[in-house]
Parts: sequence; structure tokens; C-alpha cells
Amino acid sequence: MPLATDDFLDIDDVTPAELDALLDRAAAMKAGEADPRLADATLGMIFEKPSTRTRVSFETGMTRLGGHAMFLGPDDIQLGHGEPLKDTARVLGRYVDGVMARLFDHADVETLAAYADCPVVNGLTDEAHPCQTLADLLTIRETVGEDATVAWVGDGNNVGQSFVVGAAMAGIDVEVATPADYGMDPGVFDRAAEFGADVEPTTDPEAAIDGADVVYTDVWISMGQEDQREEKLAAFEGFQLNADLLAGTDAAVMHCLPAHRGEEVTDDVLESDRALVWDQAENRMHAQNALLVELLGGE
Ligand code: CP
Ligand code: NVA
Repeated sequence: MPLATDDFLDIDDVTPAELDALLDRAAAMKAGEADPRLADATLGMIFEKPSTRTRVSFETGMTRLGGHAMFLGPDDIQLGHGEPLKDTARVLGRYVDGVMARLFDHADVETLAAYADCPVVNGLTDEAHPCQTLADLLTIRETVGEDATVAWVGDGNNVGQSFVVGAAMAGIDVEVATPADYGMDPGVFDRAAEFGADVEPTTDPEAAIDGADVVYTDVWISMGQEDQREEKLAAFEGFQLNADLLAGTDAAVMHCLPAHRGEEVTDDVLESDRALVWDQAENRMHAQNALLVELLGGE
């Protein structure tokens, strides 16, 4: 079933039914359907920011699918030296079968999609990280199940914003606790409401965690926010996932990684049996392989 969308810029670019089918396909591929489906296909991968999981999971994924992935870092291509993004997009579209891009400004991934004559996948922008959400939903399916309640505790950032919408699409209940000045874009809750979710964000982590099956956090200082470090560390006091905050619950813990141990999460929590983080990381590849097969058209 090809997707109705040509691009995957945020999680609600697909429908709930398509999301469900993508996760089914991801689970099947994880279970061993590793036959090449994208023979001779090339994925161009533009990175304005660093990456471990996104780069390696897409590159390994394309190899497993019989294709090829090409790393295009900021110093490798003329984009990093002043060539306009729309020109880069049009040229890449003449060569490759798909583009995955990790950029700062979300408007830039939209420009890329508008000008590239091939599917474009968002590998993280300042606003959204939908490939992470695919992996997170697959992980929740495999562990606690989709009747779970998940508490997002920490920054109202790109990972959280895509997750809240994706969870709503999958019928997962979400609680959100962020400091008052670091909440999610209110439009995120409107988008979640379109899928029947009624998310009431709070500034109280304990209230959000109460009754949750999973507690999900991410770094407090995202890539590009390094100059906000001192003010953010002060604002996030009380939001760390540590033994005290989690004392009254046996909830699992999710984190998209990389983690800053001692800031948003303690080492003992991340190293405990609660942590689903390694499954989340592995599932990036399986979920994205399913997406690539659907978007790039390999059967
Ligand atoms: N979670 C995630 O996107 O990790 P990377 O920054 O290592 O790609
Ligand atoms: N919120 C983090 C996620 C990293 C995968 C960031 O944008 O840096």
C-alpha cells in the first residue's frame, strides 16, 4: 500500500491507518523480512546537525534494503558554502531516489520537499522528529502495548511534539509536563485533538507521572540551543528522571538518546531495567526501513 503522501515531514503526514500499517510492516521486517526491496535506490542524507542513530540507522537500513545511502554533511556539499537550498533540492532530485534531511529550521525541510522531485524525509528539525516517533510507537507496541499512558516530562521540544501527535494517532494517552516557559507549541495539542486526544499540559512532573505506564524524556538543551544552557538548567529543576521522582511507580522509561546523564535523567535510571532506550534506538532502523519501502516504492 503506497502512502498517500510524497514526503514525511511530520508524523501526521500519514493517516492513522497508514501509521498502523507502517508499524505492522516495521514489525514484520524486524522479524526477518530482510530481502532487498530497494535495489539500486540511493538515499541522499543532508545533515546540518550531528547524528549517531539517524545517520547509522538510515545508512544501514538502505544497505539492508539493497540500496545505498550517501552522507552529505555541511562541509561536504555546496549548501554549506552558500548554494541556496532550493537549488540543492532540485539538483539532488535529479540524481537520488529520496532525500533524508536533518536541518535546523522546519521551513527548510518544507522548501526541500517543495523543490526536490523525490520523496523527502525529515530526520529532525527544531520542530519535529517524526522518524523517532515511528520507532517510539513500535517500541511501545512491543513492550507495554498501545493501551498505555505515556508521560512526557521535560522540554516541549521536537521529539516531544511529534510524539504527542503520533501517540494521539495510535490511541495512546499522553500526559505532558514541561516548565512554563518551555512548553510545546499549542498547535501540537490542536493536531492531537484532531485524532481524539485531549491533552492538558501541566508544569507538575509528579502529576504527569501519576498512573503513567511509561515516562519519556529528552535532553533539556537541544542542538542549536547551547547558548540557553544556564537559563534552561535553572528552569528544569525538578524535571529530572531520577530515583526520587520515579519512586512511587514502576513505569518504564523512554529517551530518544543521546542522553545527558545527570541532567534530564540519572545514570541509574538509564541503566535500570525500566529503560526501553536501546529498543527505541534499534527500532529506528526497522521503522524507517518500512517507511523507505513505502515512500520509495520498493516491493
Ligand atoms: N535520536 C536521534 O535522533 O539520535 P541521533 O541524534 O544520534 O541521530
Ligand atoms: N531534542 C534533541 C533530540 C536529539 C536527537 C535535539 O534536537 O537536539
